[in-house]
Amino acid sequence: MSLLEIDGLSIRLPGRDGGKALVEDVSLHVAAGEVVGLAGESGSGKTLTALSVLGMVPHGARTGGEVRFDGRDVLALRPRDLRELRGAQVAMVFQDPTTALHPMLDVGTQITEHLRVHRGISKRAAAARALELLEQVRIPNPAEAVRAYPHRFSGGMKQRIAIAVALACEPRLLIADEPTTALDVTVQAGVLRLLDDLRAQTGMAVLLITHDLGVMNVTSDRLYVMKAGRVVEEGRTREVLAAPGHPYTASLLDALSDPGTAPEGGPDHRSPGVAATGLGG
Ligand SMILES: Nc1ncnc2c1ncn2[C@@H]1O[C@H](COP(=O)(O)OP(=O)(O)OP(=O)(O)O)[C@@H](O)[C@H]1O
Ligand SMILES: [Mg+2]
Repeated sequence: MSLLEIDGLSIRLPGRDGGKALVEDVSLHVAAGEVVGLAGESGSGKTLTALSVLGMVPHGARTGGEVRFDGRDVLALRPRDLRELRGAQVAMVFQDPTTALHPMLDVGTQITEHLRVHRGISKRAAAARALELLEQVRIPNPAEAVRAYPHRFSGGMKQRIAIAVALACEPRLLIADEPTTALDVTVQAGVLRLLDDLRAQTGMAVLLITHDLGVMNVTSDRLYVMKAGRVVEEGRTREVLAAPGHPYTASLLDALSDPGTAPEGGPDHRSPGVAATGLGG
């Protein structure tokens, strides 16, 4: 049994697009310690699928199928069990690190609050752990950083801090939703390398969402490709990218190799640094 098993998931909003499903019959699984990629164009349902793992489907949505984490049906969990799941078992890192961090709380508090809510540990123990986490995500001078506010840090450093918050309770699954899209190309590689190191150190599984198949190529063991709410292709990343079975995957790859149609940022988007990270490889 996999750590995460999504089986025939559908998410439908009554009244929207004639009740059309936003996510339709999606099945995917992630084993403990595995890095799995979820790719697809904007609006294909990647984030909605990921949020379902945290039991966070849009208000009023009707769901079908099952989302099982460690054997438990997430969509049927009671609110208090969901709270325990979020953060302590499954953590999520979002695209934009500025919105993930509270602007008026110092960095140390953002980490320690999370720990105290989920772990109920003492202030002193939480403070020590915060320092350790900042060191782990390679924030220079952690003792000073815990007292600083988020605005002081660059985008890449903010994303490292957001990752530290996500890692605080040692989640068994980290969902990273386009964690490097908002960052400079040069910084992207560092953050991906960090995720890779952390995975190796902690043994956590990672579900990595990106529309950039160039990132996927070197980061994930296996890959799912979504289009219009459905999974259209899945398999070992290397094999899928070497010989895409679905024309849509091929067109995503073409968009990468043709600078004229490359997503966001043009030809430089595929940084050589990113290609050298080898997350999961
Ligand atoms: N809370 C919501 N209420 C209504 N519709 C939503 C909601 N969240 C997402 N949608 C719709 O569901 C579809 C899938 O959205 P989703 O955010 O999962 O796409 P995505 O693949 O993550 O796209 P992107 O790459 O732009 O992040 C889109 O059509 C979107 O407009
Ligand atoms: Mg998204």
